Amino acid sequence: MLSSVAERGLRPPHPSQAQGGARDGARSLGGGVALVTGASTGIGRHLVEGLATRGMAVAGLARGEDRLRTAMDEIAAATGARTLAVAADVTDRGAVDAAVARAVEEFGRVDLLVNNAGLIDAAEVPVWQADPDQWWDVVTSHVRGAQLLVRAVVPGMLARGSGRVVNIASGMSVRARPEYSAYSVAKTGLMRMTEALAGALEGSDVRAFDVAPGVVETEMTRAMPIWQGFTDWTPPEKVVELIAAIASGELDPWSGRFLRAGVDDPSVLRDITPEGDARRLRLRPYSDEDPLA
Ligand SMILES: NC(=O)c1ccc[n+]([C@@H]2O[C@H](COP(=O)([O-])OP(=O)(O)OC[C@H]3O[C@@H](n4cnc5c(N)ncnc54)[C@H](OP(=O)(O)O)[C@@H]3O)[C@@H](O)[C@H]2O)c1
Repeated sequence: MLSSVAERGLRPPHPSQAQGGARDGARSLGGGVALVTGASTGIGRHLVEGLATRGMAVAGLARGEDRLRTAMDEIAAATGARTLAVAADVTDRGAVDAAVARAVEEFGRVDLLVNNAGLIDAAEVPVWQADPDQWWDVVTSHVRGAQLLVRAVVPGMLARGSGRVVNIASGMSVRARPEYSAYSVAKTGLMRMTEALAGALEGSDVRAFDVAPGVVETEMTRAMPIWQGFTDWTPPEKVVELIAAIASGELDPWSGRFLRAGVDDPSVLRDITPEGDARRLRLRPYSDEDPLA
């Protein structure tokens, strides 16, 4: 016979789960508010749609206002949820502050922040051949962008005593690809930010997670020569499912750690309490004799 949640030493369900019934069913996040960056296309748009389907009000952020507004309108019409387009460049401090203020004015708060916006190296070249300006644009889009959003959103979460931040990671967060040096630097830096953020949030009910989406067919991956001819795409629903599980609170023990859509099953993760450096970025010793071990 299955033991109860309490008997297994796990946390009781988050209130939104208790109210919502089905763990990943439509409306299970009902009443919550999400802010998703990079929301006008690709993974961000899938996330807005998936979270709206589960009952969240969603503010979507991207630079191109027309495409963003169209996406948010289409999702509201298709799901019946409330959506809002807040156009901004995530690297622009004033624009980010204004966008977050507008989302809070409309929806009252942000329960879930997904830092998803970002760029990729324009060409597959070694570090020394990369254009320095484009190289830094990639890094700042992920790292400065996420810090500005965290700065604008997390104080409100702390004041209310609840919130979840998801930083969209990558396989290149944990292993550099020589031909994508800026992106590797950016995604590793972002993962460090998640760890630092989760550490600073300890003792609060605000959590931060890294979620790698797998390889999802989007404008970004279609433009990357390494994925030409690739067919084994990760279904975007897997990314939505994992982030919806985080939003529900059921994966809180994984705060500060790396999860990967398509291979990590929320129904498995929720019965595991990770320990030590599991799923964290660490230097591996060369042997037991390594003085850094
Ligand atoms: N696709 C994959 O397989 C994959 C794998 C691993 C990680 N990821 C990560 O997942 C995230 C989404 O990837 P994707 O493939 O969906 O990308 P995408 O198709 O290129 O979409 C990027 C989105 O971000 C927005 N954006 C870009 N720069 C921005 C900025 N400075 N400020 C605000 N918005 C900005 C874009 O709209 P505007 O251009 O209008 O601003 C767009 O909405 C990225 O962080 C990416 O690194 C993707």
